[in-house]
Amino acid sequence: MDRETLRRQLEFYRDLGIRELRVEPRAQPAQALPRAAAQAEPQPGVRPIPSPNQMTPSLIPMGPDNDSLEVIRQDIGDCKRCRLCEARNRIVFGSGNEQARLVFVGEGPGADEDAQGLPFVGRAGQLLTQMIDGTAAKEGMAIRRGDVYICNVVKCRPPENRTPLPDEMEICGQFLFRQLTVIQPKAIICLGATAAKALLGVKEGITKIRGRWHNWRDIQVMPTYHPSYLLRPYNQNAKREAWEDLKKALHYAYD
Ligand code: URA
Repeated sequence: MDRETLRRQLEFYRDLGIRELRVEPRAQPAQALPRAAAQAEPQPGVRPIPSPNQMTPSLIPMGPDNDSLEVIRQDIGDCKRCRLCEARNRIVFGSGNEQARLVFVGEGPGADEDAQGLPFVGRAGQLLTQMIDGTAAKEGMAIRRGDVYICNVVKCRPPENRTPLPDEMEICGQFLFRQLTVIQPKAIICLGATAAKALLGVKEGITKIRGRWHNWRDIQVMPTYHPSYLLRPYNQNAKREAWEDLKKALHYAYD
């Protein structure tokens, strides 16, 4: 591997939140695996699903030079890379304009998204549509939901809509990173703390980091509240703030 490829690969791992890579001496595959995994009989095309404490950063290939959303979707395939495959009905890859100047990243599909295979189609999604269409119209911008791209950190619904676990985010994050790298938007809106954590590696709550520009691989990132949070009663202030954040991002991306 040449130095430039190695540098790009290490940068990719850093973006995935991997802080440490262990170089192991070459070993027979069965010896290199954790005990439990080594004992399991591997089935063709199916990788054993590690439990969270078995997770060690694996070397994840970067996207190919001619990467595209279609290639990424094919690479995801009928994914069995983590436990979220067990209860999902559909993989929710993403939807919208593949050359969008603005991309919204949510946490993971809910029940409606899992049933339809499309992101943000439930109640939170309806609010998101209203926010995009309404704010753009108010600002005199001819932008509708179909003009942006919308996807999630994890592509399968976490059971009971729980927050995705770190290893699930790490495994699925590679596909999110490839989607964003292919689309190359001018700006990204992180909807909620999970998306902000996946892209920015921040530990602070969304209230602390929202409303300010951050950076992911030279793309401007605006974290804001997740629409599900805004649907809760008594969040009038948060709603106002989210609308302001969206206005900023729309003008930055489309002016
Ligand atoms: N919440 C999310 O984070 N993503 C969706 O697609 C739907 C609800």
